[in-house]
Amino acid sequence: MNTRVIGIANQKGGVGKTTTAINLAACLAERRQNVLLIDLDPQANSTSGLGVEKEEGKSIYRALLGEVALETFIRPTEVSRLDLLPAEVDLAGAEVDIARADNYLHPFQHALAPVRQSGKYDFIIVDCPPSLGILTMNVLTAADSLLIPMQCEYYALEGLSVMLRLVQRLKDSGANPGLEIEGILMTMYDMRTNLSQQVVQEVAVHFGDKVYETLIPRSVRLSESPSYGQPIIVYDGNCVAAAAYRSFAKEFLQRARGDGKGGALGRGIQKPAPSEPPPEPEPAEPMPEQESAPESLPGDVSASLPESEEQEEVSSRQ
Ligand SMILES: Nc1ncnc2c1ncn2[C@@H]1O[C@H](COP(=O)(O)OP(=O)(O)O)[C@@H](O)[C@H]1O
Ligand SMILES: [Mg+2]
Repeated sequence: MNTRVIGIANQKGGVGKTTTAINLAACLAERRQNVLLIDLDPQANSTSGLGVEKEEGKSIYRALLGEVALETFIRPTEVSRLDLLPAEVDLAGAEVDIARADNYLHPFQHALAPVRQSGKYDFIIVDCPPSLGILTMNVLTAADSLLIPMQCEYYALEGLSVMLRLVQRLKDSGANPGLEIEGILMTMYDMRTNLSQQVVQEVAVHFGDKVYETLIPRSVRLSESPSYGQPIIVYDGNCVAAAAYRSFAKEFLQRARGDGKGGALGRGIQKPAPSEPPPEPEPAEPMPEQESAPESLPGDVSASLPESEEQEEVSSRQ
């Protein structure tokens, strides 16, 4: 399989971009994929969330300016098969520097090309800042597809049309004709509220089978893990959120393999094969009270639930 470049984008902050970037990357690595996570947000939350110190001068910044090769600052992480290209706050300056260049849409694409062509990675996952500024536009220009995390809250869809119009414009203008929407991941799902379910249904009305079946539950463990510098599968591999991101990585891979070019447009969501064992045994643990179990889209409740939690989920509804 060729290297696929996936941008994790949504101009809203706090919707789960970084959480998804870190945990999808780690879960894909657990599934024996070679993954590079690029932190393109000057806030460097993916960097600190993987326990990597921010170091001045060691971000992608100078590579974007063409001063050094992008691979110079790629470093391994605690997770095998997962490498990181860190960010640091100086990256904010890159926006200004790049904006002055004639080809301001392309520096990231150019810097990334050698790594992409080396075939070293199955997936390059790029965590975008919460804006549609120059850095995000560079990702939209360089990526094969975009993964859009959406928080299960009332205004989830607000503002999204602006980004989708930009995607269309990049396609039509020839800047990135192959750009697709990889999929939409609903995050912070709270099974105790009707609102979460309504929002998922509303988003599904607009985006159909681009919405992943796996729903990421609201989870205290998940919000704790970045302060320990660990992906959820390392911080608490048996919790519901770890099961959810493992489920998601599996669904993500199945879709990605279903179409070598990426993009979920018009394709049916493929259900996880029930016979396939998880990458590592997941002992059944009692679910912490405040956690809500991962669900799937209405009408197919069992598809994305890991078996051990399915029992919990069923019993919690009785
Ligand atoms: N499923 C979840 N459950 C609970 N907290 C979450 C969840 N996903 C993300 N968070 C927390 O919400 C905040 C925003 O998430 P983050 O991934 O940083 O969003 P973004 O990168 O889009 O700004 C962070 O504090 C993160 O730990
Ligand atoms: Mg972020």
